[in-house]
Amino acid sequence: MNAATIIDYLNMSDPSDLFAKAKQIKAETVGNKVYLRGLIEYSNRCAKDCYYCGIRVSNTNVCRYDVDDQSVLDAAEYAWRKGFGSIVLQSGERKSREFTLRIETLLNQIMTLTNHEIGITLSLGEQDEDTYKRWQDAGAKRYLLRIETSNRTLYEKLHPKNHDYDARLKCLETLKNLNYQVGTGVMIGLPFQTLEHLAEDLQFFQTMDVDMVGMGPYIEHVDTPLYSIKNHVSTPLDVQLRWLSEVEATKLKKQNRLDLTLKMIALLRIQMPTINIAATTALQTLDPFGREKAIEIGANIIMPNLTPLKYRENYFLYDGKTVVKDTFDDTIADLEVRLAQIGAEIGYNQHGDSLHFKSKP
Ligand code: 5AD
Repeated sequence: MNAATIIDYLNMSDPSDLFAKAKQIKAETVGNKVYLRGLIEYSNRCAKDCYYCGIRVSNTNVCRYDVDDQSVLDAAEYAWRKGFGSIVLQSGERKSREFTLRIETLLNQIMTLTNHEIGITLSLGEQDEDTYKRWQDAGAKRYLLRIETSNRTLYEKLHPKNHDYDARLKCLETLKNLNYQVGTGVMIGLPFQTLEHLAEDLQFFQTMDVDMVGMGPYIEHVDTPLYSIKNHVSTPLDVQLRWLSEVEATKLKKQNRLDLTLKMIALLRIQMPTINIAATTALQTLDPFGREKAIEIGANIIMPNLTPLKYRENYFLYDGKTVVKDTFDDTIADLEVRLAQIGAEIGYNQHGDSLHFKSKP
């Protein structure tokens, strides 16, 4: 799809035809199965200082934690026993020999504990090739590293000078060369982000030939530099915000970001029919049924949070992030009901690998 066509779709006030097409393609390719990735937010310590993120190193209001090893193992075992198929180990970015070895040891322990059956995805930021390789040898099969925005100029606006777009790109290349299943993604509705940028993002996923994508709405966090420009207007959709009261504007802004994210997911499903697409947690923050709406029109992955409760409220990437207080069993039971309502079904005891990856030579 060329950029102009994508922008036309993103601008459309009634996307029902787009959604119908995406639904049809989804049914013909990945089908109605939704695969679970139990998400363990391993640590909120982060060396980076991204202007949008709540756990940036400069935010001194965060109580920093590392989940203790036994709790990680317990969560992994729970996921395995429940037939989740996969877990995701995610944390703030940190590069050190100690960190590399700690993760390596944990991976080995998780593999032994789960009879080498659980699929492990890592989302631990930019690392050198040797580290990626060690983690792969210890059992990790997939890696998520969001490019955040594929437009270099916008990337540089949203990050301090010492954050390097090219270094991030190089990590994605390294992961691909190592034969990881590689996932990336972007935030949608960022200040200064235009529909042209979003069209570029979709083209970036295609050019990078990625196997998985997780993209979600940008949501302000009060302790970040970008919060001060929360009323910035970028896309044509947001122009009308100027004439609304604060309360109305906030409501409409949320709606716009939700709509844009759903359109992006539908376009991506049409463009890359066999990749895995996540219905992200941030969608759920904007709309209690945000994730289900995403599943209906293209997404096929959900990442239920398995972070031990006592750490959970410290992994605050953005305001209003859902902190579920239910037991894990209740969360899954609830998810099953919600998915059944939209004709989707959880793919238990399967890794749910990206078909796109599996079809590569
Ligand atoms: N709004 C939405 N998503 C965010 N992330 C970080 N900060 C925010 C925010 N304010 C996302 C980034 C990161 C992922 C773990 O969380 O895209 O890659």
